[in-house]
Amino acid sequence: MAGRYQDKPVLVTAAAAGIGAATAEAFAREGARLMLSDINVAGGEAMVEKLRAAGTEAHFLRADCTSEEEVQALVSKTVETLGGIKVAANIVGDVVGDAYGPEFHAQTTAGWDGTIAVSLKSTYLCMKHEIAHMIEHGGGAIVNVTSLAALLYVPESGAAYAAAKAGVVQLTKFAALNYAERGVRVNCIAPGVTPTAAYFKGGEEMGNMVINRLLEGHAIKRLIDPSEQAAAMLWLCSDDAAMVTGHILPVDGGWTAR
Ligand SMILES: NC(=O)c1ccc[n+]([C@@H]2O[C@H](COP(=O)([O-])OP(=O)(O)OC[C@H]3O[C@@H](n4cnc5c(N)ncnc54)[C@H](O)[C@@H]3O)[C@@H](O)[C@H]2O)c1
Repeated sequence: MAGRYQDKPVLVTAAAAGIGAATAEAFAREGARLMLSDINVAGGEAMVEKLRAAGTEAHFLRADCTSEEEVQALVSKTVETLGGIKVAANIVGDVVGDAYGPEFHAQTTAGWDGTIAVSLKSTYLCMKHEIAHMIEHGGGAIVNVTSLAALLYVPESGAAYAAAKAGVVQLTKFAALNYAERGVRVNCIAPGVTPTAAYFKGGEEMGNMVINRLLEGHAIKRLIDPSEQAAAMLWLCSDDAAMVTGHILPVDGGWTAR
């Protein structure tokens, strides 16, 4: 049986690991033709190998999504390679430098700048160039990734990340409304605690401590698998969600229902 994305050209950023890799795999299972991107070349190429071995058309291009030049080149190369872009999953986001924790008066402005660039500017740049293509070629669907930290006070995440991800929420709504009549839908997921390498940059002990603390927020008392974030993104970009735009979908075990 053909999948929801049979032969559709799909771009996935941050596809080398974590939620991005799970999203690439989910699109592949539903028949998409894929361009994967990341700054992690070894991880991105390994994903392409894995998907090709399972019969998927998959390509990789390294792009740092904080660079307009590189995002523009990524979008152009995707259009050239896949013949267009019908769906884009803009997944890049992170905390940079010392911008962790609530005490931002004591953090460097470099950490703020880096976090805003990777978690907000990257989404803006990807949308800018994807939308420019989509409005000229019959529309498309975009999904962004915000965070619970945009919707609630999550001290561990830091002020820069919270502010950046709140920016992603408003950017999603703004784009959804502005481009609705030109055939582009734009939505967003807000993940709850989904263990990936991002939690373990400060070591295993620290990562587990943060995960267990945050898990207290989930009403459904378990961690979330990256594939569960991917499933929500695939629904939002599918024809099943044809009348859904500007929506922020928490995949958070009920945290934001409190
Ligand atoms: N994991 C969670 O619990 C959680 C919760 C809320 C939001 N999020 C968001 O989900 C998204 C994915 O996070 P994850 O947990 O899978 O992280 P991850 O660290 O597992 O993967 C992130 C990927 O992004 C790539 N990347 C980083 N900077 C990049 C850049 N400038 N350009 C291109 N690629 C870049 C990395 O190389 C890596 O492969 C992020 O936007 C994150 O903020 C995650």
